[in-house]
Amino acid sequence: MTRSEQIRETSEKVFFPTYNRFPSAMVRGEGAALFDAEGKRYVDFLSGIGVASLGHSHPEIVAAICDQAKTLQHASNLYFMPPQTELAESLVSNSSLNRVFFCNSGAEANEAAIKLARKYARETHGDECYEIITLEDSFHGRTMATISATAQPKVKKGFAPLLEGFVHVPAGDFAAMEQAVTEKTCAIMLEPILGEGGVVVLPDNYLKKVRQLCTDRDILLIADEIQVGMGRTGHLFAHQWAGINPDIMTLAKALGGGLPLGAMLAKEKYAETLGAGSHGSTFGGNPVACRAGLVVMRHVTDEKFLRHVLEMGDLIRARFNEMAGRFGFIEEIRGRGLIVGLKLSVPCKEMVTSAFKRGLLINCTQESVLRLLPPLIISEKEVEEMFEILEEIFGEVK
Ligand SMILES: Cc1ncc(COP(=O)(O)O)c(C=O)c1O
Repeated sequence: MTRSEQIRETSEKVFFPTYNRFPSAMVRGEGAALFDAEGKRYVDFLSGIGVASLGHSHPEIVAAICDQAKTLQHASNLYFMPPQTELAESLVSNSSLNRVFFCNSGAEANEAAIKLARKYARETHGDECYEIITLEDSFHGRTMATISATAQPKVKKGFAPLLEGFVHVPAGDFAAMEQAVTEKTCAIMLEPILGEGGVVVLPDNYLKKVRQLCTDRDILLIADEIQVGMGRTGHLFAHQWAGINPDIMTLAKALGGGLPLGAMLAKEKYAETLGAGSHGSTFGGNPVACRAGLVVMRHVTDEKFLRHVLEMGDLIRARFNEMAGRFGFIEEIRGRGLIVGLKLSVPCKEMVTSAFKRGLLINCTQESVLRLLPPLIISEKEVEEMFEILEEIFGEVK
């Protein structure tokens, strides 16, 4: 029995079967590659679902977290912790928002955003103002509040009663959005690019109109940038493509460079809403994770780094455009920068398995959208490697 098989056998006995896992145990990561227990190399075009944006075990992140682990791993949010403050300061100075709340994951960041929006609205507009509008095919997390916010029925199944006060409208349909807004609406929450929902880019003009609607009606605009923020699209934040500023923004995934870290950012105006004792987290803003976050911020705020993201994204899109002429099942090439979705007319689950067997990690959403979320440091050589494998796989589609 191989080591991967041993791990698999034990895992199947001790874990809830919440994940459909591939059969290999990953034991090491380096740059854009993962290695399994048998030493097989995988070129990683998923980066832990948008987490390892500087690649796996980036030397600067390793050095920062080792140093911090030796110095202070946890004190409690009852005290100030310098790496937290430095990271919050960096997020504030690189965004249009002024206040930060740290947590440990995307769902927790969205929980914080939902709580802030509701509390502000109740205090400002009364007890009947608590509804949040979200988009069909959105994904905001797995906690009770965030599955209530998420419009995809599959994440809600079996968990009723859900949190009330969420209204779902079709993505990109401004008339539907306008119609859904009532006196009860306290916030609109959206991903500028719907990641799990099939890499659907919301048009800039739609986002501008939604922004204006929120301003006109004193509704909070919450941008869920958990998957598409932190440089993924070639801008530091994906909403910047539309030239808009949200009232609240949520971050996680890439923020901690591989360590669990989430953040909710909001405008100064909302600072008093979450006063002492109103919200909190034991681990939120862990200093080791924040040291990694500082390294990530240093890289993703660099113009040259962001240019690389755009160049690699353009290269991948150009190749897919060319392939679309040869493979009739490619219907649409979606995304921005290094979030790429390939809408196919055929299911893509088996292609993902086939890629895995050939040493390429990719992913499939919404049954027929191949999703690529490579590390942002991906090189031309690795892009070539990915295409060599995809050519083989596409060639086998009947
Ligand atoms: C847009 C978006 N929001 C929220 C989440 C939830 O994040 P987490 O799994 O860290 O709770 C995800 C995770 O995929 C996401 O893509």
